[in-house]
Amino acid sequence: MNYIFKSSRETKQFGKLFSYLLIRIPPRKKRARVIGISGDLGAGKTTFVQGFITAIIPRAKVTSPTFLIARVYPLLARKKHIYKNIYHLDLYRITHIKELQTIGFEEMIANPYNIVLIEWPEKAKNIMLKTDIYMKFSHIKNEKERALLITTKEKKITTLLKKSDLEGKV
Ligand SMILES: Nc1ncnc2c1ncn2[C@@H]1O[C@H](COP(=O)(O)OP(=O)(O)O)[C@@H](O)[C@H]1O
Ligand SMILES: [Mg+2]
Repeated sequence: MNYIFKSSRETKQFGKLFSYLLIRIPPRKKRARVIGISGDLGAGKTTFVQGFITAIIPRAKVTSPTFLIARVYPLLARKKHIYKNIYHLDLYRITHIKELQTIGFEEMIANPYNIVLIEWPEKAKNIMLKTDIYMKFSHIKNEKERALLITTKEKKITTLLKKSDLEGKV
């Protein structure tokens, strides 16, 4: 599925819509829901994630976790969310896959109640394999336009995205 955003506000807004759509889908049985987000620097990956997280946690201050690799945003139990945590990872600076062990990556993706958003997933092949939704942002035409391509084998997600009728015109 392809989308075009004409401003960072539109990209953020799409992050919100996508998050509302995703948190209503039941967790996977054995592992977390993993979303890989690719694109050049400045393509809008973090902007999308900001929309995604603040839709559920309005007060969250979402900044790029580049120097920390990972940040966790716990969801409040009293709000009856199915999911318990959103993780935001940025692998841009990792040089070795072993660095993922230090942030507890395996535990993170083994828990069905986690949603894991990963910028630069292509830095690690086994992460690409564990990604169930893949997004690719790119710069187009002018300074403020971005294109987004979403691929997923999850039929439910495809159906919901199609139903939401956002394609090509957010
Ligand atoms: N349509 C757009 N979508 C997202 N960001 C945009 C858009 N137009 C301009 N921008 C700007 O581009 C930059 C994107 O930064 P960021 O989301 O951190 O990118 P990335 O995480 O991919 O490196 C921000 O400064 C943002 O204001
Ligand atoms: Mg970023």
